[in-house]
Amino acid sequence: MDYKMSLTPGQQAILDGKEGEIKALIMQTLVRFGDIFGAKKLVPVTHKDGHLVTSFGIGLLKPLFRTMDRIIAEGVTAQGKLTVDPRPVDYDNVKCNPLEKLVFDKILYSQQQRYEEQLKKVGLKDDNAFTCTCYLDEVGNIPKEGDILSWAESSAVVYANSVLGARCNRNSGMLDLFGSIIGYVPEFGLLTDEGRKATWIVKVVTTKVPEAQILGSAIGMKVMEDVPYVVGLDRFLGNKLNDDVKGYLKDFGAATASNGAVGLYHIDGLTPEAKKYGKSLIVPDAKEYVVDDAELERVCQSYPNMWKKPNAKPTQCFIGCPHLTYKQLCDWTDNIVKGLEANKKKKVAIRTILCASPDVADKFRATEGYQKLIKTGAKLTSICPLMYTNNPLTKGKAIATNSNKLRTYSVSRYYKTADLLDIITGKEGN
Ligand code: F3S
Repeated sequence: MDYKMSLTPGQQAILDGKEGEIKALIMQTLVRFGDIFGAKKLVPVTHKDGHLVTSFGIGLLKPLFRTMDRIIAEGVTAQGKLTVDPRPVDYDNVKCNPLEKLVFDKILYSQQQRYEEQLKKVGLKDDNAFTCTCYLDEVGNIPKEGDILSWAESSAVVYANSVLGARCNRNSGMLDLFGSIIGYVPEFGLLTDEGRKATWIVKVVTTKVPEAQILGSAIGMKVMEDVPYVVGLDRFLGNKLNDDVKGYLKDFGAATASNGAVGLYHIDGLTPEAKKYGKSLIVPDAKEYVVDDAELERVCQSYPNMWKKPNAKPTQCFIGCPHLTYKQLCDWTDNIVKGLEANKKKKVAIRTILCASPDVADKFRATEGYQKLIKTGAKLTSICPLMYTNNPLTKGKAIATNSNKLRTYSVSRYYKTADLLDIITGKEGN
């Protein structure tokens, strides 16, 4: 094949088929992908554990299953362990009617079992590996600063780049696996020093800590795929990446990545590269965006209400897209319990489903907090709520969420966290 980038003799040997036919084909794909984006070379993946975006066995993805079969037949595996986005269904905790079950099992996710078996054979970490928050301590797929990754899943990639200081492009499904198998990825974009420079300076001048999901959404919609350098946020978040701040940045980043296509952000005085290089990360002619209270309100009011019956009251809500951290899960539990007490209620007013990774959920299930949560009638699951909501059968439901990613990709309606808590706990007037 013709290609522009320069390869090492070892990389050329793989391309020439010296390590088998499937690896040659995978190498071809990586080289073509790199050429399209002007990469000059392939660089080693230094954090070997991959993260894959495709977690669901949708029957339509026949080429994916065939490729996986070929990889397995040649005995090829990822070089490290793989974590994968969340599973689509959990009938114990996210109730479905018989028709929904039929559609999920027989049509939408008919290949789930087959795909999970394939994942095990190519390097799945373990049975708990299904989460978009693979980088949390409980899950353990944690790159170091400066590591090169072969990951996909926009919310995980933006977190790894921004909060951990690792380097990863916004890859698509299959490329994440291919880089994890070959151990090289094309060098361009967010893998380069130049690509990590900020072309936007965002000034946060709000009077109180902005809702992470709305601030992220506002910035994402403004800068799209560019890199923003955010000043003024450390006034509220401080200068340490503690559990609360990590949870905030997880939600903020997911909103920048889904409402726009941000793969990296810098927070002045807080994220690793901003701490190290400061404002020298900003290009000289950077554009400016000022975010005040009114701007956040304008953005929030602009979200469309896509419910079939726009004036309906919500009947169900999902919290934890991306999956909740352990601290967030504890905080939600406390807030629901206290809210119910204050409103003199025993049970949540709508079906309330909290989503967290299997490892975080297991840790929480061993605590008293879990018993308190279950007593309120709320449920804990590890599914991806988008997989559940994104089908014709749930489109008629009045689903609420405080996730801007879920709001963007489904017909769920966005509520600010405090408003959602009032609805859940049956506060009068909701
Ligand atoms: Fe995670 Fe699914 Fe939301 S992958 S970020 S829970 S859409």
